[in-house]
Amino acid sequence: MKLGILYSRVRAEEKLLFEALDARGVAYDKIDDREVIFDLHNPGAWREYGVVLERCINHSRALNALKILNDWRVPTVNTAYVASVCGDKLATSTALVHHGVPTTRVQVAFTPESAIKAIEELGYPVILKPAVGSWGRLLSKVNDREAAEAILEHKETLGSYHHSIFYIQEYIKKPGRDIRAFVIGDETVGAIYRASEHWITNTARGGQATGCPVTPELDRICVAAAKAVGGGIVGVDLLEDPARGLLVNEVNYTIEFRNSITTTGVDIPQRILDYVLAVARGEIKVI
Ligand SMILES: Nc1ncnc2c1ncn2[C@@H]1O[C@H](COP(=O)(O)OP(=O)(O)O)[C@@H](O)[C@H]1O
Ligand SMILES: [Mg+2]
Repeated sequence: MKLGILYSRVRAEEKLLFEALDARGVAYDKIDDREVIFDLHNPGAWREYGVVLERCINHSRALNALKILNDWRVPTVNTAYVASVCGDKLATSTALVHHGVPTTRVQVAFTPESAIKAIEELGYPVILKPAVGSWGRLLSKVNDREAAEAILEHKETLGSYHHSIFYIQEYIKKPGRDIRAFVIGDETVGAIYRASEHWITNTARGGQATGCPVTPELDRICVAAAKAVGGGIVGVDLLEDPARGLLVNEVNYTIEFRNSITTTGVDIPQRILDYVLAVARGEIKVI
C-alpha cells in the first residue's frame, strides 16, 4: 500500500502530518505540485497509490489533480467531486439546500440589474462573495442601494467573468463569532468559535479561536453538511442565527487546523491519518 501526499509548500499542517506519519512508521511519498506531470494516457506508478492525500494551496491545482487521479481510479482524500463542490460557494449552497441542511438564504443572479432586484428582495444588509475564494477575501457587506450599485459595477467592470456570477447571501446577525467544525468521515471531531470585532471572523483575518462544544445538534448538522458535499474530511463554517439557530455558511475541503489542535484538544492530524489510512486499506470507499 502506497500513500502519497500532494502539497504545494510545507506549511504547519503538512509538517504536522509528516511528523505524525514518521512517528507511526508509515512510508509515504511527498509529491510537490510544482513538479508533477500527469501523462493522461499513462498513469504509471500513480496507480500504485492506495490513497493520495491532497494538501494543495491552490484550488485549481487541487481540483485538476484530483480529477485526473479519480479518473485513474486512484482514491483521494478528498475526492475531485468534494473539491468541485466545496471550492465553489454557489455549488456548496445549492448542495446544502438540495440535501435539506439548514443554511442561509442565497440568491444567484447573472446581471447587475437582476442582482440589484435580488439584493432588495433579501433586504439590506446583504453579503456579496466571489463563488470561488477563501480567507475572507473580496467579501462585501452591502448596507444600502448606493453601495450595492457601486460594488456590482466594480465587479462587472474590473472583475474577471466569474465575478459576474453574483452570489448574494443574507447577512446573519451572529453574536460576534462564527463556528468552524471539523468533520472526519461520520463524525464531528471538534469545533472552535472564531470571535472578532469585525463581521469577518476568519482566523486568517485576526479572529480569536476558543473551544466550542460539539453538541449532538452541531454534530448532526455538520455531518449532514459533509455528506451533502460528498463526504470526507471537511471544515464546516456555521453562523448562529438569533431566531433559526445553527445555519451552515460554507464547507471547506483542504482544512487548516494548526491553531485548532490545542483549542479543541483533538489531535486533528492523527485523526486525519486514521481516516486516510483506512481509505488506503480499502475499509472506506471514496470512489
Ligand atoms: N452571511 C453572513 N452573515 C454574517 N457573517 C458572515 C456571512 N458570510 C460570511 N460571514 C463572515 O465572514 C467570514 C468569511 O466568510 P466565508 O463565507 O466563510 O468565506 P471564506 O471562504 O473567505 O472563509 C465568516 O467566517 C463569517 O465570520
Ligand atoms: Mg470560511
